[in-house]
Amino acid sequence: MNWYRTSALDSVRFIVGESVLPYYNAAMKIARAGGITILRDKELFAAALSGRQVIGAAWESWQGNDYSFDVAVDKAWQNRGVGGKLSDLCIREFDEIKEAYGEEARMHIHVVNPIMEHVLQNRGFTKDPTMNGIFYARQ
Ligand SMILES: CC(C)(COP(=O)(O)OP(=O)(O)OC[C@H]1O[C@@H](n2cnc3c(N)ncnc32)[C@H](O)[C@@H]1OP(=O)(O)O)[C@@H](O)C(=O)NCCC(=O)NCCS
Repeated sequence: MNWYRTSALDSVRFIVGESVLPYYNAAMKIARAGGITILRDKELFAAALSGRQVIGAAWESWQGNDYSFDVAVDKAWQNRGVGGKLSDLCIREFDEIKEAYGEEARMHIHVVNPIMEHVLQNRGFTKDPTMNGIFYARQ
């Protein structure tokens, strides 16, 4: 099983930044199929590609000092580490950019899926009881 997970991800290419723009529509389709709404303040940030096919994507936003991201993975590709890797790319982006925002920079993720909860808990996020809804936070 480990071999399958690793070899499956080896064939997946992760891209970030402007090179994701041609994949905007395909990425939104995956979000819709996954039942999540990408709010207007979020921009496509990363995509996972198998060949030329988009199999997962991540969107990000900064609102003041608050960074947030959403992840969606094509059902056929779930549970192979793609969502975790896309989350890692967003977390790395936050860590790189937060210097500019200083000590006040925060990351808040609105969680609507128990699997995402698991992914975030694995990465040191904790529930933020001060927010309305289920939010996970990390500094
Ligand atoms: C949430 C989502 C992005 C995760 O993507 P993914 O590629 O399947 O995630 P990964 O394979 O990287 O990680 C899944 C982890 O959850 C675990 N998991 C699988 N099923 C689970 C379940 N039912 N409950 C809890 N954890 C579960 C896996 O064991 C794995 O843990 P590990 O990293 O410790 O091995 C994907 O399920 C998805 O696109 N869902 C629809 C859209 C959505 O809800 N996005 C999140 C909005 S908050």
